[in-house]
Amino acid sequence: MTRSIKRFYSGYVKKEWARLQSDPYRRLEFDTTFEFLKRYLPENGLILDAGGGPGRYTIELAKKGYDVVLLDYTPANLRFAKKQIRKEGLGERVEEIVEGSIVNLSRFSDDAFDAVICLGGPLSHVIREGDRSKAVSELVRVAKIRSPIFISVMSRLAVLATELRYFQDEIQLPLFKRVRDSGDYFGERDFTTTHFFLPEELRQSVEKGNDAEVLEMAGLEGIGSVHKEEMNELAKNPRRWKIWLETHYKTCTHPSVVGLSEHILIVCRKKS
Ligand SMILES: C[S@@+](CC[C@H](N)C(=O)[O-])C[C@H]1O[C@@H](n2cnc3c(N)ncnc32)[C@H](O)[C@@H]1O
Repeated sequence: MTRSIKRFYSGYVKKEWARLQSDPYRRLEFDTTFEFLKRYLPENGLILDAGGGPGRYTIELAKKGYDVVLLDYTPANLRFAKKQIRKEGLGERVEEIVEGSIVNLSRFSDDAFDAVICLGGPLSHVIREGDRSKAVSELVRVAKIRSPIFISVMSRLAVLATELRYFQDEIQLPLFKRVRDSGDYFGERDFTTTHFFLPEELRQSVEKGNDAEVLEMAGLEGIGSVHKEEMNELAKNPRRWKIWLETHYKTCTHPSVVGLSEHILIVCRKKS
Protein backbone atom coordinates (compact mmCIF):
# COMPACT_ATOMS: atom_id res chain seq x y z
CA MET A 1 0.00 0.00 0.00
CA THR A 2 2.80 2.39 0.93
CA ARG A 3 4.59 1.52 -2.32
CA SER A 4 1.67 2.89 -4.29
CA ILE A 5 2.05 6.25 -2.54
CA LYS A 6 5.71 6.42 -3.56
CA ARG A 7 4.85 5.35 -7.10
CA PHE A 8 2.06 7.91 -7.37
CA TYR A 9 4.16 10.83 -6.14
CA SER A 10 7.20 9.75 -8.20
CA GLY A 11 5.10 10.26 -11.33
CA TYR A 12 3.61 13.49 -10.00
CA VAL A 13 6.66 15.59 -9.03
CA LYS A 14 6.21 18.50 -11.45
CA LYS A 15 2.44 18.60 -10.93
CA GLU A 16 2.96 18.59 -7.15
CA TRP A 17 5.47 21.42 -7.46
CA ALA A 18 2.97 23.42 -9.59
CA ARG A 19 -0.07 22.47 -7.50
CA LEU A 20 0.03 25.28 -4.97
CA GLN A 21 0.61 27.98 -7.60
CA SER A 22 -1.41 26.69 -10.55
CA ASP A 23 -4.45 28.99 -10.14
CA PRO A 24 -6.04 31.32 -7.57
CA TYR A 25 -8.07 28.46 -6.07
CA ARG A 26 -4.96 26.35 -5.39
CA ARG A 27 -2.96 29.37 -4.23
CA LEU A 28 -5.54 29.90 -1.51
CA GLU A 29 -4.34 26.70 0.22
CA PHE A 30 -0.78 28.01 0.23
CA ASP A 31 -1.59 31.64 1.10
CA THR A 32 -4.01 30.71 3.89
CA THR A 33 -1.49 28.26 5.36
CA PHE A 34 1.10 31.02 5.30
CA GLU A 35 -1.24 33.41 7.14
CA PHE A 36 -1.33 30.90 10.00
CA LEU A 37 2.40 30.21 9.81
CA LYS A 38 3.07 33.96 10.13
CA ARG A 39 0.74 34.14 13.12
CA TYR A 40 2.44 31.40 15.15
CA LEU A 41 6.00 30.82 13.92
CA PRO A 42 8.83 32.21 16.01
CA GLU A 43 10.87 34.96 14.31
CA ASN A 44 13.64 32.53 13.46
CA GLY A 45 14.79 28.99 14.18
CA LEU A 46 14.90 25.48 12.80
CA ILE A 47 11.75 24.08 11.16
CA LEU A 48 11.01 20.47 10.20
CA ASP A 49 9.05 20.29 6.94
CA ALA A 50 7.71 16.74 7.29
CA GLY A 51 6.21 15.33 4.10
CA GLY A 52 7.44 18.49 2.40
CA GLY A 53 7.33 16.96 -1.10
CA PRO A 54 9.13 19.00 -3.76
CA GLY A 55 9.76 21.73 -1.24
CA ARG A 56 7.35 24.66 -1.76
CA TYR A 57 7.13 25.48 1.93
CA THR A 58 10.79 24.64 2.62
CA ILE A 59 11.90 27.13 -0.03
CA GLU A 60 9.52 29.88 1.07
CA LEU A 61 10.54 29.48 4.72
CA ALA A 62 14.25 29.41 3.83
CA LYS A 63 13.76 32.63 1.84
CA LYS A 64 12.28 34.17 4.98
CA GLY A 65 15.44 33.30 6.92
CA TYR A 66 14.42 30.08 8.68
CA ASP A 67 16.66 27.04 8.79
CA VAL A 68 14.80 24.01 7.48
CA VAL A 69 15.06 20.24 7.45
CA LEU A 70 13.04 18.71 4.61
CA LEU A 71 11.81 15.14 5.01
CA ASP A 72 9.68 13.20 2.56
CA TYR A 73 8.79 9.64 1.71
CA THR A 74 9.29 10.01 -2.07
CA PRO A 75 12.92 10.25 -3.27
CA ALA A 76 11.86 11.78 -6.63
CA ASN A 77 10.33 14.73 -4.78
CA LEU A 78 13.50 15.19 -2.75
CA ARG A 79 15.72 15.12 -5.86
CA PHE A 80 13.53 17.83 -7.40
CA ALA A 81 13.59 19.86 -4.17
CA LYS A 82 17.38 19.65 -4.01
CA LYS A 83 17.66 21.18 -7.51
CA GLN A 84 15.18 23.97 -6.73
CA ILE A 85 16.95 24.78 -3.47
CA ARG A 86 20.28 24.98 -5.27
CA LYS A 87 18.74 27.13 -8.05
CA GLU A 88 17.40 29.57 -5.46
CA GLY A 89 20.78 29.70 -3.68
CA LEU A 90 19.21 28.51 -0.41
CA GLY A 91 21.52 25.55 0.23
CA GLU A 92 22.91 27.02 3.44
CA ARG A 93 19.47 27.46 4.96
CA VAL A 94 18.31 23.91 4.21
CA GLU A 95 20.27 21.87 6.72
CA GLU A 96 19.18 18.43 5.57
CA ILE A 97 17.07 16.78 2.89
CA VAL A 98 16.13 13.32 4.11
CA GLU A 99 14.07 10.38 2.93
CA GLY A 100 11.82 9.08 5.67
CA SER A 101 8.34 8.59 7.01
CA ILE A 102 6.46 10.74 9.49
CA VAL A 103 5.49 7.51 11.26
CA ASN A 104 9.06 7.11 12.49
CA LEU A 105 11.11 10.25 13.10
CA SER A 106 13.63 8.46 15.33
CA ARG A 107 16.52 10.04 13.42
CA PHE A 108 15.57 13.27 15.27
CA SER A 109 15.88 13.74 19.03
CA ASP A 110 13.09 15.00 21.28
CA ASP A 111 12.61 18.80 21.32
CA ALA A 112 14.79 19.31 18.23
CA PHE A 113 12.76 21.86 16.23
CA ASP A 114 11.44 25.38 16.83
CA ALA A 115 8.42 24.46 14.70
CA VAL A 116 7.12 21.47 12.78
CA ILE A 117 5.00 21.59 9.64
CA CYS A 118 3.30 18.65 7.92
CA LEU A 119 1.25 20.22 5.16
CA GLY A 120 -0.91 19.33 2.19
CA GLY A 121 -1.84 15.84 3.36
CA PRO A 122 1.15 13.60 4.27
CA LEU A 123 -0.82 12.46 7.34
CA SER A 124 -3.77 11.60 5.07
CA HIS A 125 -1.51 9.15 3.24
CA VAL A 126 -0.93 7.14 6.42
CA ILE A 127 -3.75 4.66 6.05
CA ARG A 128 -3.58 2.70 9.35
CA GLU A 129 -5.15 4.50 12.29
CA GLY A 130 -2.43 3.33 14.70
CA ASP A 131 0.25 4.66 12.36
CA ARG A 132 -1.53 8.02 12.11
CA SER A 133 -1.52 8.30 15.92
CA LYS A 134 2.17 7.38 15.94
CA ALA A 135 2.90 10.01 13.25
CA VAL A 136 1.14 12.76 15.21
CA SER A 137 3.03 11.75 18.38
CA GLU A 138 6.29 11.88 16.45
CA LEU A 139 5.54 15.34 15.02
CA VAL A 140 4.84 16.55 18.58
CA ARG A 141 7.84 14.75 20.10
CA VAL A 142 10.43 16.40 17.85
CA ALA A 143 9.04 19.92 18.47
CA LYS A 144 10.51 21.98 21.29
CA ILE A 145 8.30 22.75 24.28
CA ARG A 146 5.93 25.68 23.52
CA SER A 147 6.65 25.32 19.78
CA PRO A 148 3.91 25.35 17.15
CA ILE A 149 3.00 22.31 15.04
CA PHE A 150 0.99 22.75 11.85
CA ILE A 151 -0.71 19.78 10.18
CA SER A 152 -3.03 19.91 7.19
CA VAL A 153 -5.01 16.95 5.89
CA MET A 154 -7.61 16.12 3.25
CA SER A 155 -11.26 16.35 4.25
CA ARG A 156 -13.83 13.58 4.10
CA LEU A 157 -16.83 15.89 3.67
CA ALA A 158 -15.14 17.84 0.87
CA VAL A 159 -14.27 14.69 -1.03
CA LEU A 160 -17.96 13.68 -0.97
CA ALA A 161 -18.87 17.09 -2.39
CA THR A 162 -16.16 16.58 -5.03
CA GLU A 163 -17.78 13.29 -6.05
CA LEU A 164 -21.10 15.09 -6.58
CA ARG A 165 -19.44 17.76 -8.65
CA TYR A 166 -16.91 15.87 -10.75
CA PHE A 167 -17.23 12.08 -10.36
CA GLN A 168 -20.93 11.17 -10.24
CA ASP A 169 -20.17 7.75 -11.80
CA GLU A 170 -18.32 6.80 -8.59
CA ILE A 171 -21.31 7.39 -6.33
CA GLN A 172 -22.71 3.95 -7.21
CA LEU A 173 -19.38 2.21 -6.46
CA PRO A 174 -18.59 0.54 -3.11
CA LEU A 175 -15.67 2.94 -2.64
CA PHE A 176 -18.05 5.90 -2.27
CA LYS A 177 -19.78 4.44 0.79
CA ARG A 178 -16.46 3.29 2.25
CA VAL A 179 -15.00 6.79 1.97
CA ARG A 180 -18.22 8.27 3.35
CA ASP A 181 -18.32 5.90 6.33
CA SER A 182 -14.64 5.36 7.16
CA GLY A 183 -12.65 8.00 5.26
CA ASP A 184 -10.48 5.27 3.72
CA TYR A 185 -9.67 5.28 0.00
CA PHE A 186 -7.34 2.56 -1.26
CA GLY A 187 -6.23 4.17 -4.52
CA GLU A 188 -8.77 2.40 -6.74
CA ARG A 189 -9.15 5.26 -9.23
CA ASP A 190 -6.95 8.25 -10.10
CA PHE A 191 -5.49 9.11 -6.71
CA THR A 192 -3.33 7.18 -4.25
CA THR A 193 -4.11 5.60 -0.87
CA THR A 194 -5.60 8.28 1.36
CA HIS A 195 -7.45 8.69 4.61
CA PHE A 196 -9.91 11.58 4.40
CA PHE A 197 -10.48 13.20 7.79
CA LEU A 198 -13.45 14.55 9.65
CA PRO A 199 -12.41 17.69 11.52
CA GLU A 200 -13.18 16.21 14.96
CA GLU A 201 -11.05 13.19 14.09
CA LEU A 202 -8.07 15.43 13.33
CA ARG A 203 -8.55 17.31 16.61
CA GLN A 204 -8.77 14.04 18.55
CA SER A 205 -5.63 12.69 16.88
CA VAL A 206 -3.72 15.60 18.42
CA GLU A 207 -5.48 15.76 21.79
CA LYS A 208 -5.51 12.02 22.53
CA GLY A 209 -2.27 10.92 24.16
CA ASN A 210 -0.20 13.95 23.22
CA ASP A 211 0.90 16.79 25.41
CA ALA A 212 -0.25 19.38 22.88
CA GLU A 213 -3.03 21.94 22.85
CA VAL A 214 -5.03 22.88 19.77
CA LEU A 215 -4.78 26.60 19.04
CA GLU A 216 -6.85 26.90 15.86
CA MET A 217 -8.36 24.98 12.99
CA ALA A 218 -8.99 26.42 9.53
CA GLY A 219 -10.48 25.42 6.19
CA LEU A 220 -7.81 26.33 3.68
CA GLU A 221 -10.02 26.65 0.58
CA GLY A 222 -12.74 28.01 2.83
CA ILE A 223 -16.34 28.73 2.04
CA GLY A 224 -15.73 28.34 -1.72
CA SER A 225 -14.16 24.89 -1.37
CA VAL A 226 -14.84 22.58 -4.34
CA HIS A 227 -16.07 25.63 -6.33
CA LYS A 228 -12.79 25.82 -8.20
CA GLU A 229 -14.09 27.17 -11.50
CA GLU A 230 -16.25 29.83 -9.80
CA MET A 231 -13.38 30.99 -7.59
CA ASN A 232 -10.95 31.17 -10.52
CA GLU A 233 -13.53 33.18 -12.49
CA LEU A 234 -14.07 35.54 -9.58
CA ALA A 235 -10.32 36.08 -9.24
CA LYS A 236 -10.30 37.70 -12.70
CA ASN A 237 -12.17 40.62 -11.14
CA PRO A 238 -9.73 42.17 -8.62
CA ARG A 239 -12.37 44.19 -6.74
CA ARG A 240 -14.63 41.19 -6.19
CA TRP A 241 -11.70 38.90 -5.43
CA LYS A 242 -10.42 41.28 -2.75
CA ILE A 243 -13.79 41.15 -1.00
CA TRP A 244 -13.93 37.38 -1.42
CA LEU A 245 -10.51 37.00 0.20
CA GLU A 246 -11.60 39.25 3.06
CA THR A 247 -14.69 37.03 3.45
CA HIS A 248 -12.54 33.91 3.27
CA TYR A 249 -10.21 35.03 6.06
CA LYS A 250 -13.20 36.08 8.20
CA THR A 251 -14.91 32.69 7.83
CA CYS A 252 -12.18 30.06 7.36
CA THR A 253 -12.04 29.17 11.07
CA HIS A 254 -15.81 28.69 11.40
CA PRO A 255 -16.37 25.00 12.32
CA SER A 256 -18.76 24.37 9.43
CA VAL A 257 -16.29 25.84 6.94
CA VAL A 258 -13.37 23.88 8.45
CA GLY A 259 -15.12 20.55 7.91
CA LEU A 260 -16.15 21.24 4.33
CA SER A 261 -12.82 22.56 3.12
CA GLU A 262 -10.69 20.34 0.88
CA HIS A 263 -7.74 20.83 3.22
CA ILE A 264 -8.11 21.19 6.97
CA LEU A 265 -5.32 22.87 8.92
CA ILE A 266 -4.80 22.33 12.62
CA VAL A 267 -2.39 24.51 14.59
CA CYS A 268 -1.20 23.12 17.92
CA ARG A 269 1.38 23.90 20.54
CA LYS A 270 3.49 21.41 22.46
CA LYS A 271 2.77 21.86 26.17
CA SER A 272 5.66 20.08 27.91
C1 LIG B 1 0.18 16.38 -1.43
S1 LIG B 1 1.92 16.19 -1.13
C2 LIG B 1 2.26 17.58 -0.10
C3 LIG B 1 3.66 18.09 -0.25
C4 LIG B 1 3.96 19.41 0.49
N1 LIG B 1 3.87 19.28 1.91
C5 LIG B 1 3.03 20.51 0.01
O1 LIG B 1 2.09 20.88 0.70
O2 LIG B 1 3.28 20.99 -1.10
C6 LIG B 1 1.99 14.85 -0.01
C7 LIG B 1 3.43 14.41 0.29
O3 LIG B 1 3.41 13.50 1.37
C8 LIG B 1 4.46 12.59 1.15
N2 LIG B 1 4.19 11.43 2.03
C9 LIG B 1 3.24 10.48 1.91
N3 LIG B 1 3.31 9.61 2.94
C10 LIG B 1 4.33 10.04 3.73
C11 LIG B 1 4.90 9.58 4.94
N4 LIG B 1 4.44 8.48 5.56
N5 LIG B 1 5.93 10.26 5.47
C12 LIG B 1 6.43 11.36 4.85
N6 LIG B 1 5.93 11.84 3.70
C13 LIG B 1 4.89 11.20 3.15
C14 LIG B 1 4.43 12.31 -0.32
O4 LIG B 1 5.64 11.76 -0.77
C15 LIG B 1 4.15 13.71 -0.86
O5 LIG B 1 5.34 14.39 -1.13
